[in-house]
Amino acid sequence: MTANEIRKKYLSYFADLEHRVIASGLLIPDNDPTTLFTGSGMQVLIPYLLGEQHPEGKRLADSQKCFRAEDMEEVGDNRHTTFFEMLGNWSLGDYFKAEQLPWCFVFLTEKLGIDPKHLYVTVFSGSEENSIPRDDESVALWKSLFKEKGIDAKDVVIGSIEEGSRNGMKGGRIFYYDASKNWWSRVGLPDKMPEGEPGGPDSEIFYEFTEIKHDPAYGAFCHPNCDCGRFMEIGNSVFMEYQRTKTGFDPLPQRNVDFGGGLERLTAAANNNPDVFSTVEGLHFTVQQIEQLSGQSYANCAPALKWSFRVIADHIRASVFLIGDGAEPSNKEQGYVVRRLLRRVVRHADMLAMEPNTLHRLVRPVVQAYEEVYPYLVKRQQLIAEAIGAEEQKFRQTLVRGERELRKIVNDTILTAGKRLTGRDLFTMYATYGFPVELSLEEVERVILPELGLENAENFFDREKILEEFKQEFEQHQLLSKGGEIKKFHGGLADDSWECTRLHTATHLLHESLRRVLGKHVFQKGSNITRDRLRFDFSHNEKVTSEQLEAIEREVNGAVEADLPVSWKEMTFAEAEKLGALGLFEDRYGEKVKVYTVGDFSKEVCGGPHVAHTAQVGKVKIKKEEAVSRGIRRIRATVS
Ligand code: ALA
Repeated sequence: MTANEIRKKYLSYFADLEHRVIASGLLIPDNDPTTLFTGSGMQVLIPYLLGEQHPEGKRLADSQKCFRAEDMEEVGDNRHTTFFEMLGNWSLGDYFKAEQLPWCFVFLTEKLGIDPKHLYVTVFSGSEENSIPRDDESVALWKSLFKEKGIDAKDVVIGSIEEGSRNGMKGGRIFYYDASKNWWSRVGLPDKMPEGEPGGPDSEIFYEFTEIKHDPAYGAFCHPNCDCGRFMEIGNSVFMEYQRTKTGFDPLPQRNVDFGGGLERLTAAANNNPDVFSTVEGLHFTVQQIEQLSGQSYANCAPALKWSFRVIADHIRASVFLIGDGAEPSNKEQGYVVRRLLRRVVRHADMLAMEPNTLHRLVRPVVQAYEEVYPYLVKRQQLIAEAIGAEEQKFRQTLVRGERELRKIVNDTILTAGKRLTGRDLFTMYATYGFPVELSLEEVERVILPELGLENAENFFDREKILEEFKQEFEQHQLLSKGGEIKKFHGGLADDSWECTRLHTATHLLHESLRRVLGKHVFQKGSNITRDRLRFDFSHNEKVTSEQLEAIEREVNGAVEADLPVSWKEMTFAEAEKLGALGLFEDRYGEKVKVYTVGDFSKEVCGGPHVAHTAQVGKVKIKKEEAVSRGIRRIRATVS
């Protein structure tokens, strides 16, 4: 069964259950300043999980494109990928456990034909400190579902992963785990959740690949959450019914279901083949093309080469989708992640002895696998192939010299001076030769040290420490090189035209007025100004009422009518904070900044430019107020 068939079956199954099928959101969220990528299906639905009405109703289903950069280094085994599709169905305050679990079970066993003997489930063991009970309701539902299939499903309390590997499964099929495994929120554990964040207990389904023997390197005994590969999570029903408060949890205004199932993994399970690189067409077609270009056989090559096949297939697919959604390789934000993916691919292509400058030929198989569901990829195929080709060429220009330099660094630090590598060394590799840090590390570990007959890379560098040092260098460098630009167009101005300048001063008046009307919890979260309008994101947990909007407009226009003088002074961040100026203060003490003062109305750290006195702003009109993401609202306004 192909991934395309499974996606289709899933969406039509839920459409039959009166769900509206919605299109996937973009991989690069266009309205969420808190995150670079869409990493789960629910991310695009936050406002609706919190209670806002979705235009399509209370039952939704979709297949959401997701990307998790943090999984980049896990890629290489038979199941980890950075890009994946998440099949999702949602109840926005509609059905709950008693419908969700049977639907999910029927889909797996009857629509996909998965043998229920291969399925194991987990549920939340409860949290006393947060007064959240253990999920016996789900256990009862699971028991009766398995019973219908002639399986006597015993429940066993496991607790944590450690307890799982110590005590094993004790003949169970339903397992209670603690919050580390059966609680879901965007940030993980209940204690990590910021105020207002939604979350809840979940119930996960695992598929057992019986041919894979437990690997004791992962613990004495196997259990569903063991990482040895015998069990694979294929779906997660989150019962999203809580919202974090200062001291604990409140029930959300509505009880939601958020189901997410990785399409790649479901495909592996439906085929009883644990290798997503041979079952999912979006990866497998690329693997076949790599075979053509390298002359190697995926099935029969050495393990290290198989690893390279998988890195290339995953990273190329992710790059195709990321570039397709607007992230071209570059040195910042999303573009930098695409660059890291592609440069890593170049090295792995070399390891497979692929002909240089042929990576663009891997775009076609990806597009072919997805053209039916994502026809836009066909239109962008050429552009994507060009971007990938250009990135490969660019990197190859410094690759040979970079390799030489890296060998020299290893030689000078490790062999001659007997020291460990540092993040600073590897930052030089990035700044001068364009080697992203994980590429350098991989190169040292997998190529250079073995050539020198040195095993055990951990003797020569501390990976975590290097990544941290590199990040510091990287950020410092970005600050320095962008310094001038930030000073000039601070606050997201499109340019320094007079229209933008007026809207920029209006933004300061708006920021202060929001705080006066809504409260001091309001802070700027983002700002974007074009010649036609300002767009301002700020922290606030609920919809701003029309009365409040009117009051805010009155404050702003009051300041305009008072024709207050606008002036600025340079000082350190510490001084600015002391003065009570609005601005971001973390980690920036010592830096010199400008503080803009508008009469006695507002003070704000800012690079300018601004009008000289507020009458020049003109009348400010709020056009729209909406949610951006959890706890963040957005206002659009114009001046006339
Ligand atoms: N949001 C849930 C997850 O990502 C379904 O696992």
